[in-house]
Amino acid sequence: MNPGHMTGTDPAAGADSLGLRVARSPLQDALTLSTRPGIISFSLGFPAPELFPSKEFSRACADVLGTAPHVLQYGEPLQRLKYHIVALMRTRGVACKEEQVFLTHGAQQGVNLLVTLLMERGRQVIAEEICYPGFQHVLRFFEPEILPVPTDFATGMDVDCVERYLVRGARPAFIYAIPDGHNPLGVSLSEEKRTRLLTLSQAYGVPILEADPYGFLSYTDHPAKPMRASSEDDVFYINSFSKILAPSTRVGWLIVPERLVAPLANLKEASDINMATFAQHVVARMLDVGFLPSHLQQLRSEYKLRRDAMLSTVTTQLPVATQPTRPQSGVFVWVQLPEGIDTARLLKVAASEHQVAFMPGSAFSLTGGDIGMSSIRLSFSFSSVERIEEGIRRLSQVIASAISHRPG
Ligand SMILES: Cc1ncc(COP(=O)(O)O)c(C=O)c1O
Repeated sequence: MNPGHMTGTDPAAGADSLGLRVARSPLQDALTLSTRPGIISFSLGFPAPELFPSKEFSRACADVLGTAPHVLQYGEPLQRLKYHIVALMRTRGVACKEEQVFLTHGAQQGVNLLVTLLMERGRQVIAEEICYPGFQHVLRFFEPEILPVPTDFATGMDVDCVERYLVRGARPAFIYAIPDGHNPLGVSLSEEKRTRLLTLSQAYGVPILEADPYGFLSYTDHPAKPMRASSEDDVFYINSFSKILAPSTRVGWLIVPERLVAPLANLKEASDINMATFAQHVVARMLDVGFLPSHLQQLRSEYKLRRDAMLSTVTTQLPVATQPTRPQSGVFVWVQLPEGIDTARLLKVAASEHQVAFMPGSAFSLTGGDIGMSSIRLSFSFSSVERIEEGIRRLSQVIASAISHRPG
């Protein structure tokens, strides 16, 4: 748990004459790979394409354009959508007001805006040492002092470690957490740890950024509530319709204390001037007609089948040393391979010779080093049960060969 500086001058990142980063991110590479014909890709947290509600989208688009053609004009954030978001959050046990809902272009923009609002160059930040690269991407521009926290694969973030940092005097700008369906680990934070983390946040005056894009994709009967359910002031909540309707809508939301709404609006305006109001109207129309609950039900039951297929195939097909996490929500499984296997290298062989792809664990390491080097993230949402079984079978051949060729 050594604190580390994340610098903006990482040589691997590459820079052109304007000082801009030009190296492609592992996610951009994975996106390219995923579209290669014939490949079975477990790389990205893509929703199942066959479950996109295309008919409902086209009906909603026609309704919106037929009744309110002014939606194509520049416009204000859509109040009716905020109303629906308040109702949606209530189903997760979160009470909030429309005035606390800030509409964004996806959860990624929400992360970007909140980090930009709260950070100063070089400031401390508490985050898990394996975490979502989109967050890391935003953070690195601030050259933060990272206080990395390990994650328990059954109960989530090591809250004792967070406490140690705070007791020893750390005063980070925020604590970043993905309590449900963690990306990339697939772990959910235990209820006891949620309570303790919140207590620490309140005691030390450090806000929690709670990223929840997978919270509505839960496979248990009694999922834990987001931490935002227990605190209006200390938890800044981030979500979107990307995983539950379609990512290309780019409609997301924050729930924040009202005093943050105006500064967030100023920051947002600097990057994109206006809202994607057409998409907001279309999403609101779909929620008006009560479409979402049955769609969520369908996603949960299909993804649960896919999760179970992936877990049972990983357990039976991959060599004994692997240990998949068992997600209660979300779309990711994290698998540890025997130490010494470099999964970034393995990916090259897997993709070119066996037509199967995954994300190498090192793509998620917050401070670099060997963390995640021998692990892989597998997404189960995008592929059918049959393709999951076939893809893991292919992967088992690649891994078996890597183990047999390991030095020593
Ligand atoms: C933790 C986390 N935050 C944000 C995002 C980005 O979501 P969006 O597509 O809504 O921008 C993702 C996923 O892709 C994610 O896993």
